[in-house]
Amino acid sequence: MKCRVCREPAVIDVRRHNANFCVEHFLEQCRRQVQKAIDAFDMVQPGERVLVAVSGGKDSLALWDLLVELGHRPDGLYIGLGIGDYSDVSGRHARAFAGAKGLTLHEVDLREDHGFDVPTAAAVTRRVPCSACGLSKRHLFDRAARQGGYDVVMTGHNLDDEAAVLFGNVLRWQTEYLARQLPVLAGGNGFPRKAKPLVRLSERETAAYCVLRGIDYLVDECPMAAGNRHLGYKEALNRVEEASPGTKHDFYFGFLERAAALFREGSGDQGQGLQPCSRCGAPSPAELCAFCRLEERVAGAEPVVLRARGATGRRAAR
Ligand code: AMP
Ligand code: FES
Ligand code: ZN
Ligand code: ZN
Repeated sequence: MKCRVCREPAVIDVRRHNANFCVEHFLEQCRRQVQKAIDAFDMVQPGERVLVAVSGGKDSLALWDLLVELGHRPDGLYIGLGIGDYSDVSGRHARAFAGAKGLTLHEVDLREDHGFDVPTAAAVTRRVPCSACGLSKRHLFDRAARQGGYDVVMTGHNLDDEAAVLFGNVLRWQTEYLARQLPVLAGGNGFPRKAKPLVRLSERETAAYCVLRGIDYLVDECPMAAGNRHLGYKEALNRVEEASPGTKHDFYFGFLERAAALFREGSGDQGQGLQPCSRCGAPSPAELCAFCRLEERVAGAEPVVLRARGATGRRAAR
């Protein structure tokens, strides 16, 4: 197996591109793919301030590193979701990376700053944990960007993530979601721009990138997400990809090129027709935003603690 660029021994094959790469040229290929996504979708302009949402996993740490390598000076944002050891360890990885690189990491802790955590919110609302988790993350990314004067929030969603979400949205023809499933969402109306610069890299490539760059990331997946639909879609697409490499890329980029615009009419902008939340000031369709409603609903609930192997239980009353 030889590197496509220099013919030296290769360390990784990327079947989608029908190519093998040595360490140096694989890292270069990752930088090139990210630059290509940034340019193709106008993700960031020179001089703009970038906030990277960092979970301590492979994708967001690879993204932070790649942006620095490409000459940006992005700050990080870590959100403590209160998901037991998983959150403790993920925070440590994010902090260690920031410390080693001399980068700024902002932190928000759901429990300390807002009085609840994801397991407790899930129990109180009786909905899947990912629902309160996603709502909280989106709200806190937006808020941190507004308060810190950042132009764009970048997340580590990769090709596998986007293809799986697209698959789920298509299976149920969720046209509103399809209209917004873009690698970049314009800012405005109180929202920062949102961008996903890793859409041209697969999960396997971001993991390899971290290993080859010596980036120590949290390997475990979120225990609360185990068995959810999204993971099932990922597995299904992996089987298709295995049999015909490049399918995920064609599915996702074919959607962007040929179908996304069909769904977009009138719903491409974030936050049209919203008013400031009376409690936190975030743009909201109702007097109280969804995050503040959740915060009020969960306030005072007995915290749920996660036991080993993802089992949940209530903490003894204090
Ligand atoms: P997920 O929704 O867990 O697949 O994560 C998608 C992206 O959201 C990650 O690549 C990060 O950019 C961001 N993200 C996830 N969890 C956190 C967190 N706890 N703090 C900050 N950003 C996060
Ligand atoms: Fe959100 Fe697991 S990270 S529920
Ligand atoms: Zn090479
Ligand atoms: Zn609010």
